[in-house]
Amino acid sequence: MARILITSAIPYINGIKHLGNLVGSQLPADLYARYMRQRGHEVMFICATDEHGTPAELAAAKAGQPVEEFCTEMHAVQAGIADGFRLSFDHFGRSSSERNQKLTQHFAGKLAENGLIEEVSEKQVYSNADGRFLPDRYIEGTCPNCGYDKARGDQCENCTKQLDPTDLIEPHSAISGSTDLEVRETKHLYLRQSALRDDLDAWINSKSDWPILTTSIAKKWLHDGDGLQDRGITRDLKWGVPVKKGTENWPGMEGKVFYVWFDAPIEYIAGTAEWADANGKTDADWQRWWRTDLGADDVTYVQFMGKDNVPFHTLSFPATIKGSGEPWKLVDYIKSFNYLNYDGGQFSTSQGRGIFMDQALEILPSDYWRWWLLSHAPENSDSEFTWQNFQSSVNKDLADVLGNFVSRVTKFCRAKFGETIPSGGEYGAAEAALIDELNRRTRAYEGHMEAMEVRKAANELRAIWVVGNEYLQAAAPWATFKTDPDAAAAVIRLSLNLIRVYAVLSAPFVPDAAQNMLSALQTDNQEWPDDMEAALAALPEGHAFQVPDVMFRKITDAEREDWQSRFAGQRS
Ligand code: MF3
Ligand code: ZN
Repeated sequence: MARILITSAIPYINGIKHLGNLVGSQLPADLYARYMRQRGHEVMFICATDEHGTPAELAAAKAGQPVEEFCTEMHAVQAGIADGFRLSFDHFGRSSSERNQKLTQHFAGKLAENGLIEEVSEKQVYSNADGRFLPDRYIEGTCPNCGYDKARGDQCENCTKQLDPTDLIEPHSAISGSTDLEVRETKHLYLRQSALRDDLDAWINSKSDWPILTTSIAKKWLHDGDGLQDRGITRDLKWGVPVKKGTENWPGMEGKVFYVWFDAPIEYIAGTAEWADANGKTDADWQRWWRTDLGADDVTYVQFMGKDNVPFHTLSFPATIKGSGEPWKLVDYIKSFNYLNYDGGQFSTSQGRGIFMDQALEILPSDYWRWWLLSHAPENSDSEFTWQNFQSSVNKDLADVLGNFVSRVTKFCRAKFGETIPSGGEYGAAEAALIDELNRRTRAYEGHMEAMEVRKAANELRAIWVVGNEYLQAAAPWATFKTDPDAAAAVIRLSLNLIRVYAVLSAPFVPDAAQNMLSALQTDNQEWPDDMEAALAALPEGHAFQVPDVMFRKITDAEREDWQSRFAGQRS
C-alpha cells in the first residue's frame, strides 16, 4: 500500500470554471484519486478555491458585497458544483483560510531568513482614471515576447510567459480601458528565484519521466531569454494575506498583501491542514503528508493542472519550498494538460464562451460529461469539444455499449430465469477466450491508469465494454435458450458477473453508473478483478438482482441542436 498525495490546481473564486478547465485539472485528478483508492492505496486529495487577488475584489464590488462575504458564498457554490461532478476531494479548502495565512507568512519568513527575499523600490502602474494601482492582470497590452496584443500584466495567455505589468507594450487599464496611466514608486518584496536556478534546473532534469508538456514549459522559462527572473511576491491591495515575516511585522510593508500566486500553491499544504481541522485530526495527521521529517518521506505527490499553470508549479512554488530550507514535500509528478477548444473556437471565461460546469450539470448528469471529457482529454495536443462528437460518443459508448449490455443481460435474465443469477450449464471455449482477453485488457487498463494516460485508459475501458457486448452477441443466449436453456444460463451467469466487474473497473470514470450497477446487482462487492476468472464467479448462483433503470439515455438530434445554439453565444 502506497501513500499518494494528489492536488488539483485550485480554481479562482470569481466565476465558475468551464469544461476545458475541468478536464485539465480537477477531473483527471479525481480519476486518479478514485483509482488509487480502489487499488487500496492511502490517498489524500486536496483542492480549494483560490480567493485572493484583484479579480476577486472586483467581482465582489460588482456583486455589491464585501469581499469576504462574496468569497464565502462563492466557495459554497463551487463546492456544490464539485459535488455535482462527483469530485471526491478529501477536502475542498479556501486559500483565504487562517491556515493559509499563517503558512504563507511562515514561508515568507523562512525565505527572508535564507536571504532569498529582496526589498525593491519599484515603479508601478497607477491608473488615474481608476484611482488605484493596477496590478498584474488589470493591465493589458502587447506581449514583449510574442507580440500578442491582449497579454495581461501577469502572464501572456498566448506564449505562457510570466510577465510583470511594466513589461507590456502600449499598456492600458483593463478595468476602464484608460491609457491615463502613470508610474509611481512603491516598495515590494521579490523572491530571488534566480538564486535557485541551478537547483531547480537539476531538479527538473532529474524528472525524465514527466510529461514532455510539463518539462518543456519548465525548461523554456529556465533557459530562454533572461531565464528565471526574480518575482515580485507582494501587491498594493487590501484583500490577501497581510505581508508578515513569520509572525512578525515587516517594516515598510504595512498595508500590503502577498501576491495571489505566492499564497495559492501554499494552500495545497494549508488545505490539508484544513482537512485535519475539519475532521478532528491533529497537526501530525496532516504533517505526515507534507513534512518529510514527520512521515512524508514515503508519500508520492502528484499535481494536476492545465499548461498555463505549469511555470508556477515547476518553478515558483518549488522555489518557495526549496528556498524555505525546511523538509517540505516536493511534487513527484506533474501531469499537465493542453487546452480543450469549444466548437471551432476557444473556451473563454472572460468572454463567457463554451459550457461552464454549472450549465453542464443542468442539462445532463455528470457521468455523461465525465466520460466524454476524460476520453477526449487534451493530453498530447489540444482537443476540441463539438456537440456532434459529444452526442455520438455518449450514444455509442455509454448507451449502446455499456448501458445496453447491462439492460439486455438483466432484462433477459428476468424474463427467462427470474431475478436471480441462474444455475446450470458450463463455461467453454468462448468463455475461456473472453476471460483471457479481459485479463489482458484489464492489465493494460491498470498500466494506463497508473501512468495517468487518461485517454489510453478510457480507450481500454471502452474496449473492455465492447468485448463483453461482442461475447454476448456471439453467444446469443436468446437463441440458444430455445434449444439449450442451460447453455444460455451459463452465458447469463457470466454476463451478470461481468456487470459487477464493469462497475468496479468503470467507477473512476462514471462513478454514478458504477453505483447503479452495484445496486442493481444488490452487492457491495467492489473487489478489483485481479483474477478475472474468480471475479466472474463472485456473484453465486441464486444471488438476487434487479433490473436497473435506464443507465444512459441517448442524446437526440433535437437536443443536440438546441444545446448547440443555446451555448453558441455568450454566457449572460
Ligand atoms: N487559480 C489558478 C487558476 O485557476 C490556479 C492556481 S493553482 C495554485 O488558473 F497552485 F496556485 F494553487
Ligand atoms: Zn506572449
